[in-house]
This record gives sequence, C-alpha cells and structure tokens, in this order.
Amino acid sequence: MNVVIFGTGYVGLVTGACLAHSTPHHVTCIDIDSKKIANLDKGIIPIYEPGLEAIVTEGLKSKKLKFTTDASSVINDADCIFIAVGTPPNEDGSADLKYVTAVAAEIGKTLVKNNVTVVVKSTVPIGTCDLVRSVIGLNLTKDVVFSVASNPEFLREGSAVSDFLNPDRIVIGTKEQFATDTLIDLYSSIPTKVLSYDVHTSEMVKYASNAMLATRISFMNEIAKLCDSVNANVSKVAEGMGVDTRIGPKFLSAGLGYGGSCFPKDVLALSRIGKEYNIDTPILSSVHETNESMIDYAVAKIMDQDFEDNECITFNFFGLSFKPNTDDIRESASIKLIEKLASLGCKINVYDPIVKHYTSPNNWNKIKMIHDIHDLVSIPADAFIVGTDLECVRKFNFKEAIITMKSAVIIDTRNMFDYNDAQIAGYRYISIGRPEKEAV
Ligand code: UGA
Repeated sequence: MNVVIFGTGYVGLVTGACLAHSTPHHVTCIDIDSKKIANLDKGIIPIYEPGLEAIVTEGLKSKKLKFTTDASSVINDADCIFIAVGTPPNEDGSADLKYVTAVAAEIGKTLVKNNVTVVVKSTVPIGTCDLVRSVIGLNLTKDVVFSVASNPEFLREGSAVSDFLNPDRIVIGTKEQFATDTLIDLYSSIPTKVLSYDVHTSEMVKYASNAMLATRISFMNEIAKLCDSVNANVSKVAEGMGVDTRIGPKFLSAGLGYGGSCFPKDVLALSRIGKEYNIDTPILSSVHETNESMIDYAVAKIMDQDFEDNECITFNFFGLSFKPNTDDIRESASIKLIEKLASLGCKINVYDPIVKHYTSPNNWNKIKMIHDIHDLVSIPADAFIVGTDLECVRKFNFKEAIITMKSAVIIDTRNMFDYNDAQIAGYRYISIGRPEKEAV
C-alpha cells in the first residue's frame, strides 16, 4: 500500500522510516520545510535518534521511502495518509491544532480518490479526529468517501526506532470498517497486538498513558522527599514496590522530574480538557506541581552544602538533554536546574555528549559549554552535578578528577549511581531521596 506522512519531526520521520523498513509498504514523507526535505533526500536527518539514519538511508536506496514538499502530487496515490505534525502548547496549556487543521484542509482540497484513511498520529485532544473529518469535508471539491482514524504513538525519544519495531501494542481508533482493515493490514508485519477501539477512546489512551507514566514519576518524587526526611532509600523503596507484579518496576525512578516535549505538555493538556468539561483533575494538577517542585528541591539540597567560598561557587555539570540518548532539550529539567543555579550566582561548566550548543537567555556569562568530558573534570569546582543520567557519566571513573576538585562532592539528581560504585569512590555522594554517603 502507499502511505503518505505529513510532518518529518520525531513521530513522522520515525513512523515513515520504520514502515518503509519493516513492512512492504511504500512511504512518502511530506514537510513544508524545503531545506529539511532536501537534506532528508540525501539521508541527512535533522534529529539525533539511534538507528534512524541507517533505516532512512536504506529506505532511500530501496526507493520505498521518499521525501517531498509537494503534497498535491502524492495525496491521491495514497491509501493511508498520516498527520504527524506538531501540536505545541498554547499559553493556557491546551494543544495548538493549527498545523493539524492546515494539513486537513490541504488533504480536503486535493483528495479525489475514494476510501482513503486519514490517520491522526499527532498527540491531540479528544475530538480532534472529528475536527479533522469536518475540515477535510468542508474543503472537498468532489464527493469522496474517506475515513479519519486515530493511531497514537508510544515512541520514546532515544529508543523510538526499536519502540516502533517492537511495540507493546498498536492502538487504533476507527469509525469505518475499511479504515480498520487498512490499519490492520498496514501493521500486519509488526509483531504485536492491535487494539481496535472507537476514535475517542483511542485518543484518550494516548493522553491517559502519558499522564499515568508522569504520575508514577511524580508519585516517586513525592516519596523521595519523604525518604529524605525519614532517612529511607527511595531506590530500594522502588525496587521493593516494583517486584509486585501489580505495580511493576518501570517509571519509578525518582530524581529531578520529567521533561521533554510530551509529559509536561500532555499532563497540562489533559487537565485543560478536564476544565473544558467541568471535570476536576486534582491528580493531574498535583503531578504537574510535584514535577515543577523538584527543581527547587534539588537547588535547596545543592545550596545547603558547605562550599569553600559561598560567594563564588563553581559546578561541573553533566547533561543538557531532558533524558539520555537524545539531543532534545525541550522542557529539560537539567537546563531548568542549571539556569536556577546560575541565577543564584553559581558558575556552571556543562558537558553533554550530544547537545553541543546551548545559549542561556539570562545567564550566558555564568554557563560555559565544555565539549570534552576530560576537560570538564579537570576544571577545579566545588561539586559535580549530574542533571541527566548519561551513560558516559555512569561509566566515568571520577577517581582521577578528585585532585583538581575544590571539594570531592557528587550531587546526583538522577540517582544513577549506587553507593558502592567504584567510579565515585572517595566522594561525598548526595542524591535525591537516599541517605547521604560520607566520603571514605
Ligand atoms: C514519552 C513516553 O514514554 C512515550 O511512550 C510517548 O510516546 C512519548 O512520551 C510521546 O508522547 O511522544 P519521551 O518523552 O521520549 O516518551 O521520554 P520518556 O522516556 O518517557 O521520559 C520522559 C521523562 O521522564 C524524562 O525526562 C525522564 O528522565 C523522566 N523519567 C522517566 C523519570 O524521571 N523517571 C522515570 O522513572 C522515567
């Protein structure tokens, strides 16, 4: 079958490249950004995502994957048209649907073929598929039969390709039987179950899943604060809880809180939907508030330390991205922490293995990017701070760096080290929700 995808961001590009790679279907990805499309056509991808470049190159070679800016030339060849454009948050937390509706209008103006399934893949408020259906209908120039389906994505940045190829489930929400058949056929070579629902239920599965994962994180962060007060270890608490099969071990890591382009936005958007329907959503509000509070909580913990010269504190900081294995810094908790510390007068030297550029809006003279981890650790500082749980930090042997440090302190806001890790031997080790380890 022929698949057309609007949007070559994380979701659209990963979906297009993975479909071309793992199914018999032919995929054309569309974007209005002609420079991006020209680069993609040469196999140059705009984001860092492990495994993606290889399958884009493979798709281009086999001609199963194409890129274009010209939507009108491909829409009527398609059996299935994905909308995977951005839904940035409005100021009030609701999702801005202008890109989604613009694509729907374009599809409507061009579509003359019957039985095409338009699939909304962007994360959208419940009811958006109905809106897309009416926008397409209003713009049609000919009476054609089409369907609008929901097919949310559950891809994590940093492991999006493997998540797509080995998903826990595929969720589809359809109204017409031909759309259900098209989507089941589309995904038939992906080894997982397809859960088929009505459109609104499918749209809700996406928001509820992200909100649930965010809730687990905020819950554990609340427990972490309590652990700090009662001298308990939140990592062990998570382990003790997670072996209960009713709870499970995932997304129970306490620390600096969640960031990225999804959880913060989706928790607020779901809460906003509640407001629209006069339904209180106190859990969602608390999840958001607890998440926001973790930055100040970490700052208080850090500034509570006895530094040599409190007038001139320097930190060597690891991580800018919102999580490991990505260059994405949107809503990064690391950056929020860096900015807060800098605004308190601290100097921050930052290393990130993937993010090489960051310009601070207000504290540019306090924050310095260091491009080599060895250079970072050789700068005399009052403490190392871990903001993102990067693999290179986990493996790094801090022993040699001890001699250049003003004081041997590691503040690990991601609880990534175990107390007995040889890599951090000799340091005073401070984390979130776990008793402090004294230097040995
Ligand atoms: C998330 C979901 O996991 C995906 O299923 C979903 O498709 C995606 O949002 C989306 O809606 O597009 P992602 O934002 O890439 O994926 O990242 P996650 O791996 O879920 O991590 C989100 C944040 O939570 C990160 O800042 C991470 O550091 C934090 N986190 C995660 C914790 O603080 N503790 C944990 O135990 C797990």
